[in-house]
Amino acid sequence: MTSYKELGLVNTKDIFKKAISGGYAIPAYNFNNMEQMQAIIMACVETKSPVILQVSAGARKYANQNILKNMARGAVEYAHELGYDIPVVLHLDHGDSFEICKDCIETGFSSVMIDGSHFSYEENVALTKKVCEFAHSQKDYVTVEGELGVLAGVEDDVSSEHSHYTQPSEVVDFVNKTKVDSLAISIGTSHGRAKFKPDQCTRDANGILIPPPLRFDILEEIEKQIPGFPIVLHGSSSVPIEYVQMIEKFGGKLTDSVGIPEEQLRKAAKSAVCKINIDSDGRLAMTAIIRKVLVEQPEEFDPRKLIGPARDELKKLYAHKNQNVLGSAGQA
Ligand code: G3H
Ligand code: 13P
Ligand code: ZN
Repeated sequence: MTSYKELGLVNTKDIFKKAISGGYAIPAYNFNNMEQMQAIIMACVETKSPVILQVSAGARKYANQNILKNMARGAVEYAHELGYDIPVVLHLDHGDSFEICKDCIETGFSSVMIDGSHFSYEENVALTKKVCEFAHSQKDYVTVEGELGVLAGVEDDVSSEHSHYTQPSEVVDFVNKTKVDSLAISIGTSHGRAKFKPDQCTRDANGILIPPPLRFDILEEIEKQIPGFPIVLHGSSSVPIEYVQMIEKFGGKLTDSVGIPEEQLRKAAKSAVCKINIDSDGRLAMTAIIRKVLVEQPEEFDPRKLIGPARDELKKLYAHKNQNVLGSAGQA
């Protein structure tokens, strides 16, 4: 049993409070390996941004939860070594059972998500409440994110054919009954690199897909119901066209890719949205550079020469997001 404080981590309480009053959002970047962690920390130290390191069930399977926890400890020390201590949260992304949340809490995670959004409302309330009771009764309070509403999109461990927007009429009851610390909502974002079907989009003069706008009307209604309560947006990658085109230029095939425009995320970050989840954009950046190096330098076989430049690109991407999209730069 490890407490997150022993690892130098923080929970989300204070950083969310500051983010809401300051009109910005904390980046929640998924990581599965050392290079992603290094890129996240380099970017967040350089831009002086707090950060949430997220671990999905898929990441636990791929990299092992204990290794990821020790990487988070290493991340805190790495930031210190780079010359600037930033708040670092280690968060379980899309926990789907009490057991996985308990396991992560006992391993040293400072925050967990219990995603009961696929269950009935009553089951979601009961499960989320159970996780909160456990997390909040720890010696060091562990914060819990719940979810109401369902996002569309498909990834390894997160999938749903259709999205169901969050019903503003449910949020007060859910928050009061469960005692969650933050709430993920569904207002039109979606997981993965193809967030909408082409027939849900329009096209610009170059044939590039333009997605339907997020439902800011629902977000405003939710904010009226629970003023100042921390809201989370999942599925918030922008799917930069440059990476999609680079991947396709160097042999990949990513038909009908479309993400959430940066201006819409910037607008959301100025509201009670205080955590924005980004995974797919990092995958696209790494894949684009690795494909480029493989094609342009066919004699190269040192993995560091493939993954190193991908790490540099990732760092650039995260720094850009902190500065220009989430507004978290300068807030640590
Ligand atoms: O929301 C899901 C994250 O992008 C994690 O994806 O389950 O493939 O690790 P993953
Ligand atoms: P993206 O697929 O849009 O990056 O969303 C990631 C996410 O929501 C992780 O929980
Ligand atoms: Zn998600």
